[in-house]
Amino acid sequence: MAFTYIDKRLHCDGVDLHDVAGKYGTPAYIYSEQILRRNADVLKNVFVERGFKVSYAMKANANPTILNLFKNKGLGVDIVSEGELRMAEHCGFKGPEINFAGVGKSIKELDLALEFKIDHFNVESRFELEQLEERAKNAGKKASVLLRLNPDIDPQTHPHISTGLKQNKFGMSPEKVRHFLTHTEMYPHIRFDGIHCHIGSQIVQPQPFYDLIDYLEEFTSTLRSEGVEFKHIDLGGGFGVNYNDPFEDILETTPFLESIAERAKEKLRDYQLHIQPGRVLVANAGILLTRVLGNKENGDHHFVIVDGATTDLIRPALYDAYHSVYSYQNDRPTHVADVVGPVCESSDALARNREIPEFAKDELMIIGSAGAYASSMGSTYNLRPLSPEILVGISGETQLIRDRQSFDEMISLYQ
Ligand SMILES: Cc1ncc(COP(=O)(O)O)c(C=O)c1O
Repeated sequence: MAFTYIDKRLHCDGVDLHDVAGKYGTPAYIYSEQILRRNADVLKNVFVERGFKVSYAMKANANPTILNLFKNKGLGVDIVSEGELRMAEHCGFKGPEINFAGVGKSIKELDLALEFKIDHFNVESRFELEQLEERAKNAGKKASVLLRLNPDIDPQTHPHISTGLKQNKFGMSPEKVRHFLTHTEMYPHIRFDGIHCHIGSQIVQPQPFYDLIDYLEEFTSTLRSEGVEFKHIDLGGGFGVNYNDPFEDILETTPFLESIAERAKEKLRDYQLHIQPGRVLVANAGILLTRVLGNKENGDHHFVIVDGATTDLIRPALYDAYHSVYSYQNDRPTHVADVVGPVCESSDALARNREIPEFAKDELMIIGSAGAYASSMGSTYNLRPLSPEILVGISGETQLIRDRQSFDEMISLYQ
């Protein structure tokens, strides 16, 4: 059922969003458990069934209820910070279900991860390798490492979410990766178990993934000819979703995912393959529910001001990202307007120059695709409390899965 209009009113899995707003207030994130489960099932069918290990990149949405749901589906987690490690531990993920990525890890983070016996570290630089060697030696352990390769492949996405070009800060050049793999004796407390790549996010064409797979086929065969062997290849995440139609079923995306899985299986058949998807699992399972504070004109420019803001959804300001806008009742004439929040920044916009329904004061507005990189990128700028997260369960009950931050809690941090 998912997000659908019933009698011209928007519902989530049969639950009227007007009732949700009445019960929990706005702004609020609403997630569909049905869609979250379905997304996880599709990834399992496409990737796990073909022998891949799938680790959810929890930076996309680190709500523990969602993490538990994916854990129960058998997915692991890809983490990038101490906070994410602690949250994974809190949710009951075991060490072998966790891998630690990220361009810089502190000594404390390395020590904690070693203590927790995580599966492996994705390492992106010499300084990190040396640091990990020292910490592993100190702990009397041998750390499993996948070296992050920067293959200089254009993911054909927004420059701010492209990570596999050589001008990006991520990964290491093929020459460096080769150097480390041929000098493993320099790091006796590290086990070089493989290679990791993540070329970018919101990739909607298969070609960049094909390019990556073909590149890795050649790179690994060169390494093999030099006697370098390892078992694991992690292709990262980055699978895009349809932001134009967030209510589209994930089955529309399945052939895209299948084509990538098939190509990888064919070309990299000798390796244990991994992926670390974030967005594709959660983006279109969520919406941001906001209320219209009012309308205003500046010259011939029309603004709809809502109570949600870049503090709830920074992607439009950060990446010029497109998020669709819906009215709660879908029988409206439309006009061109900007949807903006109350935050004191000109960049505080959720949609610009957009043909949207005409909204009256106090009406509900729905911003689509707010399940990924929305709440997890939330901030308290202007001392706005973090917005609550609500899960609409399989049997149509609503559950508050993160409370609205209280002003007392915000103020107490300063004391
Ligand atoms: C190393 C790594 N893996 C996985 C992901 C998840 O990407 P996505 O949400 O696009 O699938 C990211 C996102 O930034 C990342 O940096």
